[in-house]
Amino acid sequence: LSRRAADYARIPLKIKTDRKEVKAIAEEIRARLAGGSEALTVKLKARSYPIYFQKDGPRALPGLLERHAPASQVVLISNPTVFRLHGRRFQKELEKKFTVHKILIPDGERYKNLKTLAGLYDRLARAKVDRKTPILALGGGVIGDVVGFAAASFLRGVPLVQIPTTLVAQVDSSIGGKTGIDLPQGKNLVGAFHQPRFVLIDEAFLPTLPPRQLRCGLAEVIKYAAIFDAALFHRLEKEMAAILKNSGRGLLPIVRRCCEWKARVVEKDEFDALDIRALLNFGHTLGHAIETLTRYRKYTHGEAVAMGMVFAARKSVARAGLKSRAVERLTALIAAAGLPTDPPAFSKRAWLAALARDKKRVSSLVHFVYLKRIGKAAVIPTPLEKILE
Ligand code: NAD
Ligand code: GLY
Repeated sequence: LSRRAADYARIPLKIKTDRKEVKAIAEEIRARLAGGSEALTVKLKARSYPIYFQKDGPRALPGLLERHAPASQVVLISNPTVFRLHGRRFQKELEKKFTVHKILIPDGERYKNLKTLAGLYDRLARAKVDRKTPILALGGGVIGDVVGFAAASFLRGVPLVQIPTTLVAQVDSSIGGKTGIDLPQGKNLVGAFHQPRFVLIDEAFLPTLPPRQLRCGLAEVIKYAAIFDAALFHRLEKEMAAILKNSGRGLLPIVRRCCEWKARVVEKDEFDALDIRALLNFGHTLGHAIETLTRYRKYTHGEAVAMGMVFAARKSVARAGLKSRAVERLTALIAAAGLPTDPPAFSKRAWLAALARDKKRVSSLVHFVYLKRIGKAAVIPTPLEKILE
């Protein structure tokens, strides 16, 4: 508040000199405070961008677009589920200032594919999208990934705006520029890094999420707490029941905290080359294997990662000095979020085959993420066999 007051206090001084400048400052303050919370910047030199946090729908969006991706037309891409619940309001607000091309793609991971991408290119070409036209991805991680990749590749790159509507997308996929599609041979096999011009995170999206999707996002939130943030972990232990009861209302400060961690990681290792961004894969080695072995049908990604985190924590006792009490706390928190803790049973051969497909594997070593303590993680290359020992 004091910073806000200080900002406003500057305005009268400027009024005497230059009204245009005053308007620019006011616009900047409005943007920075979109919805009442100051933006967070992902600092990547020329590719830096803000993440805005708010609770009040599309009102701030046209101003933010004029500021970060000025153009007379915009492309709004979503799916029918999200569009019905939230998208119409966004379209209406945008139409007050821009020519809006709306594109809906079918809902579901199975549409994060080449056919959808080809359809998008066709629509973008027909809408005469030029290199300044911003493309807005309004939806969960599926929309963010496929639309992001279309924006990365159409005309060799057009401005992208991420408006994440699931908790997974808000704390993870909308930040950091990873975009892509699945191939029949595997998930996320084709893609590109393409940072957005800005990310607009609105708490108002969360209460309409199916409870299972909210829990899926909470698995990622728990992950950030476990690997980076003991204070957040403690807060989640105290507040998990209330978070579930309130269906995500009031979660914005926690979402913001996770975004701060993601931003810091991406700043240090934008292209996932230094085993820093790899820390975000805590729980993912076994999680991916579980998804593969159950053919992506039985568990959501968050549920699989939840079981993977418990497994990785158990491994960490011998390999990274994690205290058993920490394993108990992590297991209890995951269970409190309504997520599973014990992986399904498969033969050792099946596990090995699934683990061997891990994208992050380098020769026979898996870059496995261990916990040293709650709030501190480390990547240790580990032979496949040792993981299952
Ligand atoms: P999703 O995009 O499939 O969304 C889950 C479901 O929730 C969908 O049916 C969707 O229509 C619906 N939905 C979205 N917002 C809603 C809302 N506000 N209210 C009601 N329903 C809503 O799934 P997800 O978990 O958001 O994302 C998973 C995808 O993200 C995967 O493809 C994964 O590979 C990708 N991902 C990418 C990154 C990255 O860094 N790029 C990171 C994590 C995950
Ligand atoms: N979701 C993992 C990453 O962004 O690297």
